[in-house]
Amino acid sequence: MKTVDLRSDTVTQPTAAMRAAMNAAPLGDDVFGDDPTVNALQQRIAQMLGKEAALFVPSGTQSNLCAIMTHCGRGDEYIVGQFAHTYRWEGGGAAVLGSVQPQPLEHQSDGTLALKDIEAAIKPDDAHFARSRLLALENTLGGKALPMAYTADATALARRRGLATHLDGARLFNAATALGVPAREIAQHFDSVSVCFSKGLGAPIGSALVGTTEFIARAHRWRKMLGGGMRQAGVIAAGALHALEHHVARLADDHALAKRLAEGLQGLPGLTVEAPQTNIVFADLAGPKAATLMPFLKSRGVLATGLYRLRFVTHLDVDAEGVDRAIAAVREHLAA
Ligand SMILES: Cc1ncc(COP(=O)(O)O)c(C=O)c1O
Repeated sequence: MKTVDLRSDTVTQPTAAMRAAMNAAPLGDDVFGDDPTVNALQQRIAQMLGKEAALFVPSGTQSNLCAIMTHCGRGDEYIVGQFAHTYRWEGGGAAVLGSVQPQPLEHQSDGTLALKDIEAAIKPDDAHFARSRLLALENTLGGKALPMAYTADATALARRRGLATHLDGARLFNAATALGVPAREIAQHFDSVSVCFSKGLGAPIGSALVGTTEFIARAHRWRKMLGGGMRQAGVIAAGALHALEHHVARLADDHALAKRLAEGLQGLPGLTVEAPQTNIVFADLAGPKAATLMPFLKSRGVLATGLYRLRFVTHLDVDAEGVDRAIAAVREHLAA
């Protein structure tokens, strides 16, 4: 029985066509700046997102950290959501390695940060306070796409108050698909954007940071210091380029499968399912069956995460049969 792995969209295996592209990629040494495939990828993603330049990095974590350290200096702060990946799931890197203080804010139910909370968090120019320098948003956040009008308003507020803006767009193309806009329409509101190739796009490794040429030149120094200078990196950049050509339009399929999964899980005893906007389905599970659900699913060849808050993520390696098998397994356990 083939395992249906719904733990994350990071688990995808490169397709045969992607492996072939990686195998065929012309390579150089990217620390010397002469890997033609890395250079092609950087040009392509910068152009797709409407920015002057891009930097290929090994991970989304390093991309966000390079961005924060480029926007902010020692004793500055960045305003960010409590559940934003940069704040909660990246080991406190901005504070630890960048001496940049986070100012976390509570999210609204749609994942946004209230404009009045952002406004209130911006510190006056006073020696008591860290200097507020940056607003960092995330899209999608927990699978939710930030409304376009909100993105425009929040970034306009930041600019009005002299803050730079960064987007953790690990799943930017999922957001763009859900919102029905080109990714560059979201990116245009931000000074810098980080995008991951290793999630819904299905590449094995890699992220990119985009911004102005001057910003990327400064971020490049941090990438080197953080150990992100890679040599024949074109072999992985080729996977990312292939993903940009072939795996963007198909994200809609992942979203449709997430919807199918959510619908199939509706109405089971103890389970409250959130309607997904993109490729991530959350469901809250109450009652004694929570502790045994994941081991049971595993015994049926279905992998997911969570205990009382379950998470199922659809991706390139999940099909309708797999989703239906996941639904059947959850039903078997909860309805028994
Ligand atoms: C929203 C978001 N940002 C950043 C990252 C970090 O990416 P990486 O695992 O490549 O460091 C993740 C990883 O899951 C993420 O979900």
